[in-house]
Amino acid sequence: MIHKIKELLKETEEFSVKSAEELESFRLKYLSKKGEISQLFNDFKNVPAELKKEVGQEINILKQFAQEKFDQFKAVIEDSQTGTETLDLTRPGEPLELGSRHPISIVRNEIISIFNRLGFTVAEGPEIEDDWHVFSALNFPPEHPARDMQDTFFIDKANEILLRTHTSSVQVRVMQNTKPPIRSIFPGRVFRNEAISARAHCIFHQVEGLYVAENVSFADLKQTLLYFAKEMFGEKTQIRLRPSYFPFTEPSAEMDVSCSICGGKGCNICKYSGWLEILGCGMVDPNVLESCGIDSEKYTGFAFGMGIERIAMLKFQIKDLRLYFENDVRFLRQFKSAY
Ligand code: PHE
Repeated sequence: MIHKIKELLKETEEFSVKSAEELESFRLKYLSKKGEISQLFNDFKNVPAELKKEVGQEINILKQFAQEKFDQFKAVIEDSQTGTETLDLTRPGEPLELGSRHPISIVRNEIISIFNRLGFTVAEGPEIEDDWHVFSALNFPPEHPARDMQDTFFIDKANEILLRTHTSSVQVRVMQNTKPPIRSIFPGRVFRNEAISARAHCIFHQVEGLYVAENVSFADLKQTLLYFAKEMFGEKTQIRLRPSYFPFTEPSAEMDVSCSICGGKGCNICKYSGWLEILGCGMVDPNVLESCGIDSEKYTGFAFGMGIERIAMLKFQIKDLRLYFENDVRFLRQFKSAY
């Protein structure tokens, strides 16, 4: 019997396993209930009493060895099947989808970066405002028809608390709190009581610009806006200023850029005019400077305000304003590679 055990030990030592099938035949041959080692335990009862101790020890050594060998081979084979050696358990199970910036954010960041290069800083103001900051300080007289230009959402009519209808209210706050020179832009959300359609929305975004210092002229305004237009829409872009009216600027103008889609030749985006309207602007009315505590004899300034949706519409040819607020991933996904 000792001889048989030694033989089996040698066999198991020499046994090499390369596949799951071979591993299974190793198990069947040596370790299963009907295998060689179980057989030895069965035969053990016939071993003479004086040899039982020695034989028992040898069988146990064999059993332990075979089991260890089986476990080792099993680990190697499982590794090669699942690639455990190179499996990084800290990696995410599902690939992480990269998000993308909203087109409004892309365009807002670009506008900010262009004006940063001209030395404009960025400031923000509250979305919930009072009548004074949105209208009165901006030279809208109480019964002036200009107030009808912007349909306002009131939060508390008695106390004249409302959602700002334009970012010009931030001009007022900044002028009240800052000594000129002031050179800042104010991006933000604005609200108007409009029926929602492809061309109008009750929430949209503006960027306001303000430059107040000594000797600021309309020529400075024009040059600043020309620089902006070329940076935003390309070096070949031209601008055109048309006389307009805002209560808080005098003189006032609306600015068009040459159509970046057809290059000014005329297309359906510019309605065959070759020009696209992008912003309102003008020289800050002396009344506004005075309302905000700035000496209008000493200082002059220009201001402008543009709609971010409008610029994004032109840049990305988005034809429906509602798309900006629906958060449909099929829309948002298209800006993945934009920035
Ligand atoms: N606040 C104006 C609007 O919302 C835009 C504007 C800003 C015009 C600054 C002139 C100067 O339409």
